[in-house]
Amino acid sequence: MPVEELEDKVILTNPQDSSSKVTILKYGATIISWENKAEEKLWLSKAAKLDGSKPVRGGIPLVFPIFGKQKNPEHPTSKLPQHGFARNNEWEFLGQTNESPVTVQFGLGPENLSEETRSLWPFNFTLIYTISLKEDKLTTKIEVENSGRKEFEFNWLFHTYYKIQDITDILVSNLIDQNCYDQLIGESYIEKAPAISFHEEFDRIYKNINSSKIIQIIDKGKVLYNLKRNNLPDSVVWNPWIKKSEGMNDFEPKSGYENMICVEPGHVNSMVLLPPGEKWFGEQEISIGGEIKVQSNIY
Ligand code: BG6
Repeated sequence: MPVEELEDKVILTNPQDSSSKVTILKYGATIISWENKAEEKLWLSKAAKLDGSKPVRGGIPLVFPIFGKQKNPEHPTSKLPQHGFARNNEWEFLGQTNESPVTVQFGLGPENLSEETRSLWPFNFTLIYTISLKEDKLTTKIEVENSGRKEFEFNWLFHTYYKIQDITDILVSNLIDQNCYDQLIGESYIEKAPAISFHEEFDRIYKNINSSKIIQIIDKGKVLYNLKRNNLPDSVVWNPWIKKSEGMNDFEPKSGYENMICVEPGHVNSMVLLPPGEKWFGEQEISIGGEIKVQSNIY
């Protein structure tokens, strides 16, 4: 069966290859596993809560309508918790929308939220999340509609945790010359590394990356993933390293930072302003393997 709905999750299986599957928790519409040819591609903490008691530590949590915490106390998102409410509310499973590639949709609107959450962000909206699985490829697309009478502003982010063997062997490429905001020191600068490597805590927002740039995650010279972004100008790159992981009680094993890297396409440097009746979409396409492609500016 290419699409199997269970009480708390939905499992997609590639009809052409039953060893490729995606598991989506209804809570947060969080993808908690992507197996390609029987190999797990996403990192999931051993202590991740999958019972709806807190956002999932790992997989692909969805960040909306605010990335991090809003710093402006006057902004309508200022009362929301870190990373908003999309990742910690149960989404509605809307069903299968395509056979090949196998595709499903989930939806979230104010009717799915508690009174309390609704009062924290009192706008009318519809989110439609589309997940599509092919051989060596996973596509996640979000559509945000303003179904109310007031304009609203939001961030979006696919908080993707990749499973890797050893963080010190990893390079993330094609972000050279990109303006970035380093969340650890609170400063913006131009990234000068042809490829980013990791040897300490890392938390940067790369801003306004041209959509032609394909971010690659490379392991010992081999391309693990190619990340294409459609209408998602920014990307966060995050690894909590030793101290930060110790402080997160749902992060296990504590050495897990060695086996994960988050590369998170989104719209977070600025907010999207959505007038009533309008729609916005953002999409990430993750493909496996291929060759290293160097994309830098030529002077
Ligand atoms: C990343 C942020 O996207 O998410 C980090 O850049 C943050 O600053 C991380 O620590 C995890 O956030 P949370 O809320 O899931 O612990």
